[in-house]
Amino acid sequence: MTGELNPNSVAVDLKDVAKTYANGVKALDGIDVRVGAGEIFGLLGPNGAGKSTLVKIMMTVIRADRVSGTVLGRPVGNREAKRRIGYLPEAHRFPAYLKGRQLLDYYAALAGVSRSERRERAPKLLERLGMAQWANTRIDKYSKGMLQRLGIAQALMNDPQLIVLDEPTDGLDPMGRRDVRLLLQELRDEGRTVFINSHLLGELELVCDRVVIISAGRVVREGRLESLMNASPEYAIVVRGDLSKLAEPLNRLHATIQVDRIIVPSLDIDVVNQVVDLLRTAGVAIVSMTPRKVSLEDVFVEATGGHLPQTAKPPLTARVVGGPR
Ligand SMILES: Nc1ncnc2c1ncn2[C@@H]1O[C@H](COP(=O)(O)OP(=O)(O)OP(=O)(O)O)[C@@H](O)[C@H]1O
Ligand SMILES: [Mg+2]
Repeated sequence: MTGELNPNSVAVDLKDVAKTYANGVKALDGIDVRVGAGEIFGLLGPNGAGKSTLVKIMMTVIRADRVSGTVLGRPVGNREAKRRIGYLPEAHRFPAYLKGRQLLDYYAALAGVSRSERRERAPKLLERLGMAQWANTRIDKYSKGMLQRLGIAQALMNDPQLIVLDEPTDGLDPMGRRDVRLLLQELRDEGRTVFINSHLLGELELVCDRVVIISAGRVVREGRLESLMNASPEYAIVVRGDLSKLAEPLNRLHATIQVDRIIVPSLDIDVVNQVVDLLRTAGVAIVSMTPRKVSLEDVFVEATGGHLPQTAKPPLTARVVGGPR
């Protein structure tokens, strides 16, 4: 499905990335990951799948056994390209004695951002992340969520073209998560590319344009979120009445009976109406009708063989009313 991307506007094009750690753990088994410029991309996978390993290789924090391809049009590790990337590492640890504003200044200075740009950007980003009032407080006084907000501000200090966020909503409360989602959409609207690692399915479902799902160091699914989630749409019609004589005619419309409901494996309204006509003619009452899309959780469970991330939230897609699917 990488064919969906325009090859002229690819921000990340990693090929055949492989990494086995010194302890023998094969974290990445030769994977390809492409991210279109200007999209919000989600790298998804269960704990230990290799998401952080991939990002660390991209940021040259660790060395791959094999990697080819480009990031922002340059080979992996190219200094010029790295200057245009903002990075929020997983479970980051900042020096506790720094104040919020100092921390932004310190990290941006390390990244080669000029003093005048640092002065201009730090207060704006603190404001944007809702941290302005904490600018002059030592970060050892910060809550987990505040540290995460500061980490995201830090990743934006170099005005990056590509923003790589490893579990950006870790430790954030629901409002904080919503704030981050809106921020990511703003960043995309500004023409930047956002690369998120996350195991929070509900979150990715709300914000990502494309996802790649990895499991045990291999790509198991990839594509635009809406096409993955629309892969097998269906209508569920909950009914009351005698269905005993309807199995065959329903079968002709490819619909099946599941206890108190009819599942129509299509969102084609003509087919759904034919099923309704059949039911009404037989005197069956219709209790509810629900179009159902596959949730990201369904896709994930199917792709990874039932290995659901431990901290996943329940999916936000509507469920069929009144019983198991
Ligand atoms: N420095 C290391 N030394 C040895 N093994 C490691 C190291 N870092 C990661 N691993 C192993 O590599 C595999 C992939 O780890 P990685 O951190 O990339 O996964 P992840 O997808 O980011 O998981 P999570 O969702 O928990 O963050 C795991 O089995 C992990 O135990
Ligand atoms: Mg990780």
